Amino acid sequence: EDAGRAERFTLSQGQILLDYSKNRITGQTLELLIALAREAGLNQAIADMFSGEKINRTEKRAVLHTALRNTAKKPVMFEGKDVMPDVERVLNQIQSFCQQVRSGAWLGYTGKPIQHIINIGIGGSDLGPQMVVHALKPYWTDTLTPHFIANIDAADMQATLSDIDPETSLFIIASKTFTSTETMANALAIREWFLDAPGTRRQDIKKHFVAVSSASEKVETFGIAPANMFEFWEWVGGRYSLWSAIGLPIALMVGMAHFRELLAGAHKMDTHFRNAPFEQNMPVIMAMLGVWYRDFFDASSHAILPYDHNLRKLPAYLQQGDMESNGKSVTLDGEAVNYHTGPIIWGAVGANGQHAFYQLIHQGTQLIPADFIAPVESFYYASSVYGEHHAVLLSNCIAQSQALMYGREQQHVEQEFSDQPELIPHRSFAGNRPSNTLLIDKITPHNLGALIALYEHKTFVQGVIWNINSFDQWGVELGKRLSTEIELELKGERALRSHDASTEALIQHILEQQKQIQD
Ligand code: F6P
Repeated sequence: EDAGRAERFTLSQGQILLDYSKNRITGQTLELLIALAREAGLNQAIADMFSGEKINRTEKRAVLHTALRNTAKKPVMFEGKDVMPDVERVLNQIQSFCQQVRSGAWLGYTGKPIQHIINIGIGGSDLGPQMVVHALKPYWTDTLTPHFIANIDAADMQATLSDIDPETSLFIIASKTFTSTETMANALAIREWFLDAPGTRRQDIKKHFVAVSSASEKVETFGIAPANMFEFWEWVGGRYSLWSAIGLPIALMVGMAHFRELLAGAHKMDTHFRNAPFEQNMPVIMAMLGVWYRDFFDASSHAILPYDHNLRKLPAYLQQGDMESNGKSVTLDGEAVNYHTGPIIWGAVGANGQHAFYQLIHQGTQLIPADFIAPVESFYYASSVYGEHHAVLLSNCIAQSQALMYGREQQHVEQEFSDQPELIPHRSFAGNRPSNTLLIDKITPHNLGALIALYEHKTFVQGVIWNINSFDQWGVELGKRLSTEIELELKGERALRSHDASTEALIQHILEQQKQIQD
């Protein structure tokens, strides 16, 4: 009914267009949501984050991942020191390393150039680089193949080991703390595998292993030469670290110039976020819409639906970014919240998801706001084989958001099924199901950087509204601690101690089964 709505509720930033008109809002809703953002002190919170205040209060840390992509190179002060010279030093180190590996000048122990890049890391030390590497596939060098090992599951490592050979492999041990059990166990196992290969000597480790970490002593203890360590800093959170040396697999696969474009795109979004009035501020608008559904409609989840095969890892990446950040139930002052905080973030690539879970989004009992994300231009037009694909993909993307919004008017359904009235309720769509559509000119490194930064800031804004610490992750700790005890019992290195009945029975069951297998 409102012809001006799409125009009024659309924003453009660089080469990203956000149409948020298919949401349950009026102009007044937006005004009130923005008033809420002001009342929550968002202006000050943004200034605090960018200026290096220790806003991660429980860990007493600043949150300065934005400095890593500060391509304007203006000083960023942390504890009285400009961090930019260090940032640039590591970028130059990455650049020179990438040049050597990509040109074939970096040789393995038998004199062959590197052909396989294997990143060993978990959480933020895996998801970010993995997502970006896949998203930028059209930019890959054809001399290298990327691999990612994260899980502490032999099947994960085995799948990679069967594809590579030690002579042409470069292993990146990526861990901010250099203590994550999964990464360390995988790194040690890979080192043994490497040293078992015919002709390898201990001194060859330096030709095949590098580390990305903020824990230099631990890296050296592991046996990696300081020259092969790429540093990053305590003020970079794990899930915000792909802009740091954690992005090394990205730089290796797409080249340093493209990695710098990724940073520049994110910086452009940072500048927009810092300066644009809230009414035209893309991260702020997306964040406030999320708060609207979470707290006023009880929407417990939010779907991420990229219509681009190369963005298939984006939902998992954003899942960590958002859920580890905003899955909190106490305020900054430690008071229990009496409202909902972060939603469940999930999703999968379109159109595949349409044939799997969209049914529930269209006709299920829950309200699931969704972000449709699609590139206007595909990299694959040039081939006549794929000539039609992109138009079909895009038409599906747009049709889905249209269907969610409109539903199907009862009257039409009644007409169509007048001879089968029992089908009418099954064939009806209520509509009024909200979504955003993000159209990106093309998935270039620059635009991808901007897109990721957009979601980072969205998460940050929501944390400010909910008055929680978006930058710690204490919820991950307890399970880690308990597992080390259970591990000793499963390995028979300690007698089964009294746990709760369920835990004890499960351990007992495994031990008994394993005994039977051994016997
Ligand atoms: O899951 C907890 C966590 O600390 C994440 O925040 C982090 O990205 C991941 O573990 C990996 O940590 P690290 O890089 O120190 O190995």
